[in-house]
Amino acid sequence: MSDIDILFEKNRQWAEAIKESDPDFFLQLSKQQNPDYLWIGCSDSRVPSNQITGLLPGDIFVHRNIANVVDISDINCLSVIQYAVEALGIKHIIVCGHYGCGGVKAAMEKKDHGLIDKWLEHIRKVYLKHRDEIDSIGDESLKINRLCELNVVEQVRHVCSTDIVRKAWDSGKELAVHGLIYGLENGILHDLGISKTSPSGV
Ligand code: CO
Repeated sequence: MSDIDILFEKNRQWAEAIKESDPDFFLQLSKQQNPDYLWIGCSDSRVPSNQITGLLPGDIFVHRNIANVVDISDINCLSVIQYAVEALGIKHIIVCGHYGCGGVKAAMEKKDHGLIDKWLEHIRKVYLKHRDEIDSIGDESLKINRLCELNVVEQVRHVCSTDIVRKAWDSGKELAVHGLIYGLENGILHDLGISKTSPSGV
C-alpha cells in the first residue's frame, strides 16, 4: 500500500470506529462547532493536540507553527485568536510548548538554517531576554528545555497583550490563558502555573 493509500485506509477505519460508538457524531458535528479550547502549539508531528488530550473533532480549535510562537504582528495567528474568542466564544487559550523542541534548539545554534532563521528570531529574542539564566545552565539539553518553558511564558504574555484578549476581559467574558509544556518522553502535559484570567500582572 502506498503512503497516501495508507491515509485513506486509516481514515475509513477511524470514521467507522467513531460511527460505531456514536452513529450521529459526524452529522451533528457538521452542523456546528462549539469548542471550549484554542490550542496554540508547535507543528512538531509528535505533539498532536487532539490525540494527546484524548479529545474528539470539534473539541479544540487549533493553531500550530514552529515552536508555538505568538507574534503580535502575525495576521495568521491573530485571526485564529480573534475567530476563536469572538465567533466561537472559546473559554481557554492554551499555549503548549514541548521539551526537546527542534525550533527552540535551532534558535540557539549559531549556524545558518536559511529562511527559517527569520521565524526563529522570535525564539532568539526570548533567549536574549533570559540569557543570564539560560547560560548559567551547564547541560545543553536542560538549557534547551528551560528555553522551551520560557518561550511558553513569553508567548502567553503575547496572547494576553493582544487587543482581542484585552477586549474580551474588558467586556467581562470568561476567558483564561494557560501555559503548558509537553514531555515527548512520557506523553505527559505539565501546567506551567502561569494561567491568566484578567489583565492584572500581564
Ligand atoms: Co517544537
